Amino acid sequence: MRKRHLGILPTLCVALSLAGPAVAEPWSAPAVDGLIDNAWGSAVRFGRDLTVATPSLIGPEVTDPARRFAGNSLSCQNCHLNAGTSQFALPFVGVFAGFPQYRAREGEVRTIADRINGCMTRSMNGRELPLDGAEMQAIVAYMKFLSTDIPVGAATPGRGTVEVPLLDRAADPTRGAGIYAQTCAACHGADGAGKRNGVAGDARGYAFPPLWGPDSFNDGAGMVRLITSVGFIRGNMPLGTTWQKPALTTEDAWDVAAFVESQPRPHMEGLEHDYPNRLQKPVDAPFGPWPDQFGQEQHRFGPFAPIRDALRRPRTEAGGQATASTKSVEPAKQ
Ligand code: HEC
Ligand code: HEC
Repeated sequence: MRKRHLGILPTLCVALSLAGPAVAEPWSAPAVDGLIDNAWGSAVRFGRDLTVATPSLIGPEVTDPARRFAGNSLSCQNCHLNAGTSQFALPFVGVFAGFPQYRAREGEVRTIADRINGCMTRSMNGRELPLDGAEMQAIVAYMKFLSTDIPVGAATPGRGTVEVPLLDRAADPTRGAGIYAQTCAACHGADGAGKRNGVAGDARGYAFPPLWGPDSFNDGAGMVRLITSVGFIRGNMPLGTTWQKPALTTEDAWDVAAFVESQPRPHMEGLEHDYPNRLQKPVDAPFGPWPDQFGQEQHRFGPFAPIRDALRRPRTEAGGQATASTKSVEPAKQ
């Protein structure tokens, strides 16, 4: 049975809310804690724990070197908020029903496990989880559980991030630096390094995660794409913001995201092999090669509408599904 609840709307968020009391649209994510204690229930709970307490289970600071899969001390839920249960905060709800799926980044049909390993090697700057290992089985089980009652292929309202109108100018990282100092640095640090729960080496991860630097996501991660990070930031940041009541103006969201994404972070080798069909490469992929003449600056900071218009094309392999992953083929609409 599905229970209606508001996810695990965190007390932290409510306490720190800068946007005032905003009521989230109810969206039902089934309750993990209601599961009975059999093998399935344990797997689902372990999957939930892996997404919440990633650094203490598979992070780079765990005692057993064989279990150090993630390369940074982020947790999945630093980006997939509230254990992947919140609308427009990159939720996991409905994701299971969308796989296997054609992935433009690889130019192949891929499974949900492959997708999870995409975040392991990019967002987590680490290595792949073995497909038959307990960790992968558990994360997939958790995602299946979160997709209870969602039909295969159904579009789930609230997948991905909010769409933010494109700017008709390039996003301005210099202006963004000022917004960052005023609005973000209190939590994420002036140097972007975040604030740990404890001390380096204790495998407890972050109270406020790093946004750049050596312990952040690498330059092949989804979050480095400006349209993706603008959507995430506008719908969710500063912490406590909700997508119904964004705290930042559209322009401020673009500029602050441009500042964050232009900071140094770990490098992933081989990014030139991503999107083997170059025409399917998202307009905001900040690394080449591109199928056009717009150049790196414009692919990093926009304006994106001219690129999109030049490349406008039928959606073929992507199957035209209105899911978050379609956004990796087509940019957000105005
Ligand atoms: C730094 C932020 C970040 C972290 C940390 C992160 N992810 Fe992601 N993840 C993203 C972004 C951004 C996307 C969407 C990318 C896109 O639009 O192509 C995504 C997409 C996904 C998807 C596909 C979602 C969909 O709607 O199709 C899955 C599954 C996923 N991540 C799993 C994980 C797991 C499991 C972890 C932890 C091991 C993790 N991610 C850690 C940023 C992150
Ligand atoms: C009140 C504290 C707070 C403020 C202010 C804040 N954040 Fe965050 N931010 C967080 C927390 C906490 C998380 C992780 C959420 C979680 O784990 O539940 C996060 C996550 C993120 C992430 C995804 C995780 C990562 O490591 O990249 C991004 C990007 C981000 N914030 C950007 C911003 C930007 C840009 C601003 C300013 C506009 C901002 N934040 C303001 C607390 C804050």
